[in-house]
Amino acid sequence: MAVKPVHVAIIMDGNGRWARARGLPRTAGHRAGVEALRNTVRAAGDMGIRWLTVYAFSSENWSRPKSEISDLMGLLKLFIRRDLAELHHNGVRVRIVGERHDLEPDIRALLEEAESLTRDNDAMNLVIAFNYGSRNEIAAAVRRLASEAARGVLDPQGITAETLGAYLDTAGIPDPDLIIRTSGEQRLSNFLLWQAAYSEFVFLPCNWPDFGRADLAAAIDAFAARDRRFGGVDAREAVS
Ligand code: FPP
Repeated sequence: MAVKPVHVAIIMDGNGRWARARGLPRTAGHRAGVEALRNTVRAAGDMGIRWLTVYAFSSENWSRPKSEISDLMGLLKLFIRRDLAELHHNGVRVRIVGERHDLEPDIRALLEEAESLTRDNDAMNLVIAFNYGSRNEIAAAVRRLASEAARGVLDPQGITAETLGAYLDTAGIPDPDLIIRTSGEQRLSNFLLWQAAYSEFVFLPCNWPDFGRADLAAAIDAFAARDRRFGGVDAREAVS
């Protein structure tokens, strides 16, 4: 049987280009992007994917025009208000990674509501990376480790990769097996830098609003055909 990824992470890119190609405002691209996200969560659940992480707003996205930022914030609120009941009904546990303190209080409250309502669900996990940036996440983890070492509650000599992993926003979440990026760009853009150490990548030419069930299935098939060695050698070569 084909190997299925436990954790799929997606960089949902190309909303703006999708809109421009249709003579529409960027807002329309983001709206269509939410619809693609909704369909992808359903498809991933149907395909038995246990963890799905999506990059919805990066810590660098604050440099976009104010109107676009407020649109993305509005869409997140709308997504949680409209979809939370369905997600909960389908046994989806929602988790948010990223900096919360500079988000509006009403957004913070919604994120907390989504997490607490779905805390005990275990059919599938949806991780939304919002106001997320990997370098900030790693720096924050190192700050905490350093202050615990300075207070004498942590031995610096005992710090391992696992220790650092446990201080990241993604503590307890398995590393992504497969990272998909749409829109033809081939880079990580500060997404899950630490966690992607052994991820497989699939880059698709379609813009995010055009991503559908068939694209997800094709990416999972491509993943199944990869030879993952995690720095070792192929199991068949190991014996020769
Ligand atoms: C990249 O397209 C996409 C984003 C910056 C945001 C992703 C957001 C969504 C899919 C919709 C919002 C969903 C939630 C839950 C908030 P781009 O704007 O960079 O496209 P471009 O590179 O073609 O301009």
